[in-house]
Amino acid sequence: MYIGIDLGTSSVKLLLMENDGTILAKAVREYGLSFPHTGWSEQNPEDWYVQTLDGIKELLEGRDHGAVKGIGIGGQMHGLVMLDKDDNVIRPAILWNDGRTVEETDYLNDEFGRDKLMQYTGNVAFAGFTAPKILWVKKNEPENFAKACKIMLPKDYLVYKLTGAFSTDMSDASGMLLFDVEHGTWSAEMLKVCGITEDMLPKIYKGYEVVGELTDDIKNKLSLTGTVNVSAGAGDNAAAAVGMGIAGAGKCNISVGTSGTIFLTSDSYRVDKTCALHSFRHADGGFHLLGCMLSAASCNKWFMDEILQTKDYAGEQKPISKLGENNVFFLPYLMGERSPHNDPEVRGSFTGLSLDTTRADMVQAMLEGVAFGVRDMLTAARNIGYDPAESCICGGGAKSPLWRQIIANVTGMKLVTVENDEGPSYGGAILAAVGNGEFKTVAEASLAVTKTGAITEPDKALIEKYNEKYAKYTEIYPAVKNLYH
Ligand code: XUL
Repeated sequence: MYIGIDLGTSSVKLLLMENDGTILAKAVREYGLSFPHTGWSEQNPEDWYVQTLDGIKELLEGRDHGAVKGIGIGGQMHGLVMLDKDDNVIRPAILWNDGRTVEETDYLNDEFGRDKLMQYTGNVAFAGFTAPKILWVKKNEPENFAKACKIMLPKDYLVYKLTGAFSTDMSDASGMLLFDVEHGTWSAEMLKVCGITEDMLPKIYKGYEVVGELTDDIKNKLSLTGTVNVSAGAGDNAAAAVGMGIAGAGKCNISVGTSGTIFLTSDSYRVDKTCALHSFRHADGGFHLLGCMLSAASCNKWFMDEILQTKDYAGEQKPISKLGENNVFFLPYLMGERSPHNDPEVRGSFTGLSLDTTRADMVQAMLEGVAFGVRDMLTAARNIGYDPAESCICGGGAKSPLWRQIIANVTGMKLVTVENDEGPSYGGAILAAVGNGEFKTVAEASLAVTKTGAITEPDKALIEKYNEKYAKYTEIYPAVKNLYH
């Protein structure tokens, strides 16, 4: 049996998988997210560790503990975790959706230079990436920077706690802006700009490779007996793709989770010269382009929990019947925006309200705004020659048939779900199974265990209506962006 872990932003999701891909058990543990200033986003790495151990205990209740062979983790990307010489966490982790590094990002892009960044890493700087965060700590918290001996990503902290191995994998390393994506090594030039040395960074592995075994102390805590290998794992988008059968070239996956992403695979290194999409390694040994909007299903969660104060998410969608007819628009930039605008300071808005606007119109606008954001990323992909006719879709938001229908019509794509939509945790378990020799390659494993689920076809008339709406939507950001700068 293999344990797959999705170290997410709002919770850690865990599953237990048999070596043929069958899911035996699942568990979830939530933890807090803090916003110490507007646009900042932090978490306590110790919470990840404590909740993960607790979740594993539940997962294994009533199971043969001796049958657990491996663990693989897919984790929220780009977060900065710093440890001191005694391996204590120096400050809370600064997360992927934190926008505090406007100055550092501008410095890297405009003064250090986009051309050099592209040459060294395949990407330009985005506020959520790790390198600008290191520069921010160096400038604003010099005492913390001076203490830092190890710099790592969220899932790599968990692997370190579980095994003592200081490791990362290529897909997650890609999002640090310290990694040369084309050549698969740390970039000496980027380390120099950030004032760090290579011994402060983890050793780079392929996602399925075993980096270490669970320590005796952890095994005692979890009542595990035999050897339990831990694989390097992957960034959550690459892990989710593996769990969706998105392996090998020419495939597309849309994730509607806390973030919204499009993930386009290729077997060779490619860059988006307009810099709207990131150029990263995939966990199947290939590459991918990634577009990321910072708030997707989190827009729905915010609107339901905070504004409408309801837990009945499906009930709020019931009165929505007239797709393509809504006059209300929503910009989903609640934490700023990454792809394609690279604007950490912009914020969300509703536009087009009138006295006859209903609660349902606003819910619909919120769902449509996220779909338009997905289309913005797809437009960037289409501009550089990627034009997938269909895509897989996953994440909490994709569980809503209405939201899938809206996204299918806004993007004009057929959308396919998989039966086991467990996202990164399933991918993590698959990587662990490959690392333990259950399958020959990640692609073989990924394709062998995934089965097609519900299919959503777009409707010709609605595609046309949404083309018109989208044309209007694209005019809103240029009109409002100066309000935030
Ligand atoms: C991808 C990104 C997000 C996080 C969410 O670049 O920032 O998808 O990985 O956990």
